[in-house]
Amino acid sequence: MAKRIGILTGGGDCPGLNAVIRAVTMTGILKYGYEVLGYMHGYRGLYENTYINLDLQTVSGILHRGGTILYTSNKDNLFQYHLMENGQKVVKDVSDVAVENLKKEGVEALIIVGGDGTLASSLKLEKKGVNVVGVPKTIDNDLEGTDFTFGFNSALNVAVEALDRLHTTAESHHRIMVLEVMGRYAGHIALHAGIAGSADIILIPEIPYSIEKIADKIKERVQLGKLFSIVVVAEGAKSVGGDYVVSKIVEDSPEKIRLGGIGQKIAEDLEKLIKDHEVRHTVLGHVQRGGNTSSFDRVLSTRFGVKAVDLVNEKKFGNMVCLKGEEVSYTPLENVVDKNRLVNIDGDVINAARSIGISFGD
Ligand code: F6P
Repeated sequence: MAKRIGILTGGGDCPGLNAVIRAVTMTGILKYGYEVLGYMHGYRGLYENTYINLDLQTVSGILHRGGTILYTSNKDNLFQYHLMENGQKVVKDVSDVAVENLKKEGVEALIIVGGDGTLASSLKLEKKGVNVVGVPKTIDNDLEGTDFTFGFNSALNVAVEALDRLHTTAESHHRIMVLEVMGRYAGHIALHAGIAGSADIILIPEIPYSIEKIADKIKERVQLGKLFSIVVVAEGAKSVGGDYVVSKIVEDSPEKIRLGGIGQKIAEDLEKLIKDHEVRHTVLGHVQRGGNTSSFDRVLSTRFGVKAVDLVNEKKFGNMVCLKGEEVSYTPLENVVDKNRLVNIDGDVINAARSIGISFGD
């Protein structure tokens, strides 16, 4: 009988998930002769034992498509699972049910594709005896242990296109345009999009800003005859001594706080300091997570998927595949979960931005 392996996608979706599913399925079948099960709706599929058989036909034509054919959820955590029992909402640890379901189906190894929350749960499953290999996913690029997560490059391309579009309208109206991008508590998207999209001011959580310094930079540009300015702000940015701007609290989610609203705040605060120019703000939101996968992410996701199955074959469980320089490798899950990889404020990317006159509002 063919060896059975499973795959699930957890947390927020991002471009590249389908490319990983495709690579895992093709490698599993073509290289090793495995049978591949795709668990539905992230961890919920393990609890409910809902899966599909992934074959070459199922994964045909999905390489470029964002989202995930297995669906996903950033609400379901097996160790704190929200359930209705006798008409009452209860929160329970249902991980034993998931482990039993895997045993029942004869699944010998599970490839778990996700961000920090999903991977933290994967490590807990590993400790319960499940043979796990992790694959790092997030547009935020904030996972420890890998140079890049897949999804980041695709999101970046969307943000850069938005900045290019904002430039032409900002210039025509002599306006200040503020673009709010995602990234949670890290500024990778804002930093890279800001450089690639030729922003004048980049605001990231790692460098608290002063609104006066931002206004000074804009006035300095006006003095030089530049009558418009572009500000890109990460959703997790905050002023010196200030706090995160929160858009909503999602009570039944493992990560309750949803950031959002800082772009509008910056625009309103700037309008009070800059009288001669109108300020507009745009929130890019989930547009960054949707659409087609970039070429870079298609290649990275394919390499990650192949490596994950190779690790299964070599029985190197408890690891996450990763990119180190030019090589795809692996690192213990233990070393990467519950850590938030922030922008290195002394690194060369920040240095390059500062060297060409980009302000961080500090
Ligand atoms: O982690 C990815 C991400 O898109 C963040 O950039 C953002 O803060 C969050 O997810 C949004 O989550 P939700 O899917 O709940 O809107």
